[in-house]
Amino acid sequence: MNHVKTLPIISLIVFMHQFCTSLDTITINQPIVDGDVIVSTGQTFALGFFSPGKSSYRYLGIWYNKISEKTVVWVANRDSPINDTSGVLSITSHGNLALHSRNQTTPLWFTNASALPTNNCVAQLLDSGNLVLFRSGSAIWQSFEHPTNNLLPNSKLGLDRRKGLNWFLTSWKSSDDPGTGNFSYRFNPEGYPQLFLYEGHVPKWRAGYWNGVRWSGVPAMQRYSFIFNYTIVNNENEISVSWNDVYGSVLTRIVVNESGLFQRLKWHDD
Ligand SMILES: *[C@@H]1O[C@H](CO)[C@@H](O)[C@H](O)[C@H]1NC(C)=O
Ligand SMILES: *[C@@H]1O[C@H](CO)[C@@H](O)[C@H](O)[C@H]1NC(C)=O
Ligand SMILES: *[C@@H]1O[C@H](CO)[C@@H](O)[C@H](O)[C@H]1NC(C)=O
Ligand SMILES: *[C@@H]1O[C@H](CO)[C@@H](O)[C@H](O)[C@H]1NC(C)=O
Ligand SMILES: *[C@@H]1O[C@H](CO)[C@@H](O)[C@H](O)[C@H]1NC(C)=O
Ligand SMILES: *[C@@H]1O[C@H](CO)[C@@H](O)[C@H](O)[C@H]1NC(C)=O
Repeated sequence: MNHVKTLPIISLIVFMHQFCTSLDTITINQPIVDGDVIVSTGQTFALGFFSPGKSSYRYLGIWYNKISEKTVVWVANRDSPINDTSGVLSITSHGNLALHSRNQTTPLWFTNASALPTNNCVAQLLDSGNLVLFRSGSAIWQSFEHPTNNLLPNSKLGLDRRKGLNWFLTSWKSSDDPGTGNFSYRFNPEGYPQLFLYEGHVPKWRAGYWNGVRWSGVPAMQRYSFIFNYTIVNNENEISVSWNDVYGSVLTRIVVNESGLFQRLKWHDD
């Protein structure tokens, strides 16, 4: 008799699992395992586990949901690959996002944004491509403040002077390895705001200083050129540059590739 009663509950759990993993959030009761994918509400971005190029390692990342050629724009465990498909992204009892693999008690990656026990944290993948961790409704961590090699529209390069965060891009090692590569694109905080491309610690190229209208070294990068719209903030809290596409496209990004090339790419559906 008993199993007649439990059957609907089992199908409900199966249903809920499928239903919930198609949503855009991770909660304390709903971790993500390798194979699950969550998709932002407007269907623009997806988050899940992937293997880059010829690699068989597994990484947690965010990619464009609608683009057939998998284009990864953010990687969590870029320097801590998982050997198998046992990866789990969960919210810990202290309210952090943490990535574990089987038999691994210390996380391979975690947000370290929340220190006190809580069950009020949820993470949401926004349609901008930003993965945001909320504690009691306030954002306490976001992937836009920890970029890898891509700068998406409305995310920032710069320095958060209060939290001591440095938002900068670093190339992958190769198309098979998203590990921290040799090229980075970052602000030099001294004097006038200046953006530099570094190879290791050696500055290779600079965009010059921002004169209010454009970067002195790059005439094409104006506040309102035919493609870019830059927002510069320089005050006691932060110095940063963010950008968006004047046509409002989100399928566009700035990337530092493995040979140190700094490119802006836009997806055209034709
Ligand atoms: C993956 O395998 C290598 C070599 O066996 C090992 O050193 C490393 O710790 C493993 N990584 C994980 C996350 O299990
Ligand atoms: C991981 O744990 C399982 C179960 O405890 C065990 O069978 C397996 O050998 C372990 N794997 C590694 C790589 O230690
Ligand atoms: C987590 O953050 C605390 C406070 O900022 C810091 O002291 C600690 O070293 C961090 N832990 C890790 C593993 O990064
Ligand atoms: C980074 O630079 C070092 C020193 O020049 C070099 O040995 C290494 O192969 C480079 N790494 C990549 C991923 O290109
Ligand atoms: C430029 O970006 C700002 C901030 O996102 C926005 O308010 C403004 O409308 C944009 N301007 C153009 C011309 O796209
Ligand atoms: C970086 O981009 C340039 C221009 O598209 C390309 O020629 C080069 O091969 C790229 N480097 C790598 C390592 O993909």
